[in-house]
Amino acid sequence: MMNMIEVKGVTKQFKDKKAVDGISFTIQKGSVTAILGPNGAGKTTLISMMLGLLDPSAGHIRLGGQPPKSMAARDQLGAMLQEVSVIDGITVGETLDLFRSYYSHPMSKERLLEWSGLQGEQKKRADSLSGGQKRRLGFAIALAGDPDLLFLDEPTVGMDITSRKLFWESIHRLTKRGKTIILTTHYLEEAEHVADRVILMSAGKVIADGTPEEMKASLTHRSVSFTADGILAVDALTALPHVKGVSTQGSRMTVTTTDTDAVLRDIFSRNLPVHDIAIENGSLDEVFEVLMKREEIA
Ligand SMILES: Nc1ncnc2c1ncn2[C@@H]1O[C@H](COP(=O)(O)OP(=O)(O)OP(=O)(O)O)[C@@H](O)[C@H]1O
Ligand SMILES: [Mg+2]
Repeated sequence: MMNMIEVKGVTKQFKDKKAVDGISFTIQKGSVTAILGPNGAGKTTLISMMLGLLDPSAGHIRLGGQPPKSMAARDQLGAMLQEVSVIDGITVGETLDLFRSYYSHPMSKERLLEWSGLQGEQKKRADSLSGGQKRRLGFAIALAGDPDLLFLDEPTVGMDITSRKLFWESIHRLTKRGKTIILTTHYLEEAEHVADRVILMSAGKVIADGTPEEMKASLTHRSVSFTADGILAVDALTALPHVKGVSTQGSRMTVTTTDTDAVLRDIFSRNLPVHDIAIENGSLDEVFEVLMKREEIA
């Protein structure tokens, strides 16, 4: 697989603040990577350097083997910044025409309007759009050049549920077309569904890097909980090799386990009198919490 992005020993020092602190990673073509981390972790600074908007204080970045500021890199780039600004005095349609005119092979206007959900807003002035609509326009602008590499800094902030859903559908379509996408978000559940890789940043450093599944498997608990009619023989459950523990809250019992399927099989094969079974497979939120706690202790 080809490396679309190479980040090597990159640091950004602002006067007395080291916003990014010696980060290295590579990103492969066609992948969706979510860069996650608390406010001030250095996500936007890192993205700005990958876009060539900021120069690293140390280290280097290559996009498709080229420096971010090179024409070759720029031509394949699309970006949606954390602060979206629109051009005053022109309509949504005119804005898209303008940005499309910068590129040799732009995405069709119809598709831009459809994928950003702005069909109904084409004739509206860009500066009269609502906050969420402006972000959708920012997304359409990022896509205008039909880029191979897309950077999206908190794209879904301020979007309502419908726009957000449409947005993730569009991301899905883009990945099907082989685009490489790097995004940040504070909505971890969304990241979990769309990203095939998560890079977790804290205080300018990468503190975890892997697939959401790997992270959840190593850092969260899986459990099966249910309500039991009468008294269950807890000992039998506790004795199972994949069970880590059994706890009871009122009439509800929670079995913490490495293998939720095996616990279910056991419950059914023994015909245990239980109902309202719920399976908890751990979440990225939990991963985030565990890792941030570790950082605080360290
Ligand atoms: N131009 C700048 N001058 C000085 N310090 C800066 C500058 N830009 C960012 N910083 C600092 O660098 C750190 C990282 O900021 P950055 O915007 O990259 O964080 P972030 O991870 O994107 O946070 P958020 O989730 O809030 O968007 C912060 O402490 C911020 O105050
Ligand atoms: Mg940011």
